[in-house]
Amino acid sequence: MNNNILRLKKNEIIRNMCVDTNFLQDQLIQPIFISQKVKDSNEIPGLQDNYVMSLDRAKKQIEKDLKSNCKNYLLFLVPEKKSQGNFNLDFHFSAIKSLKDSFSNNIFLWADVCLCSLTDHGHCCLYNNNNEINLDQTLLELSNMALTYVNAGIDGVSPSDMMDGRTKAIRNILDKNNHNFVPIMSYSTKFASNFYGPFRHAAESAPKFGNRKQYQLDYRNKNDALRASLRCANEGADLLMVKPGLYSLDLIDDIKKQTNMMVGAYQVSGEYSGLTLAAEKDLLNFNEALKESWYVMKRAGAQFIITYGARKAKELELFA
Ligand code: PBG
Repeated sequence: MNNNILRLKKNEIIRNMCVDTNFLQDQLIQPIFISQKVKDSNEIPGLQDNYVMSLDRAKKQIEKDLKSNCKNYLLFLVPEKKSQGNFNLDFHFSAIKSLKDSFSNNIFLWADVCLCSLTDHGHCCLYNNNNEINLDQTLLELSNMALTYVNAGIDGVSPSDMMDGRTKAIRNILDKNNHNFVPIMSYSTKFASNFYGPFRHAAESAPKFGNRKQYQLDYRNKNDALRASLRCANEGADLLMVKPGLYSLDLIDDIKKQTNMMVGAYQVSGEYSGLTLAAEKDLLNFNEALKESWYVMKRAGAQFIITYGARKAKELELFA
């Protein structure tokens, strides 16, 4: 066994020769927030280069992104009104339709399917009178939402609510309506994490009472984390995901082995904001640190990465 590591490090050329982790721009997915209330765009505290935008502003942003080759998006829609059910999805429908009418197949548009930006209490589900999760009604609303997105022209749907049966319910309603070819990218292993803060600020989705531990995973448990991805695989998901990505690296390989499916990682808002804020204090080089974080997720086996920095990949010269 040759235990000399230094000999293959003399310069950039031989170091590049020996790189065994690579990825493509289209394996980075850029989240995008569109709000019915926002006139132009609002910065999102902690998320460098990310804004909550009006529809028009979002289109300008996408035009700019396309020049950097960033074309794969995960859309979050923030409606003006909150309610307790029977959600009005007119804004969702028209925003998606308008984006796909404008950009057609020059972009791939995933949309997050969840209720937390619509419910007045900010939870991802509906409750019945004795404060239990009303699973049937929740699944109905979620699948109705997915169908509305698909009718508006979405390319793929991405359920993030963590309810039992949501992937199956969505697959069923899509297939019944002849949308057999629309893929489901499930947030399959999603923890009740402390790292979603900047996102909830942007999506106005912080729970008004309690927390999400009744339906999101307990970060102390590995078996549940694996089982949750198996659940989505069995229910018909096309792509799986771990979240928060950097804090779930230990799970990626096991999920891949147990399902033979592709597993992505979501570098969540709290993870990205850690880099943003440290860089603002001159404690690290943002671009270099971001690049490192992506390679780490790739090295751990992530097929794709959802990251608030996807639009910066060209600037980082990853794909020279
Ligand atoms: C909606 C949803 C959340 C995120 C993605 N979809 C928030 C949550 O579950 O509370 C978090 C993404 C991020 O923090 O970047 N359920």
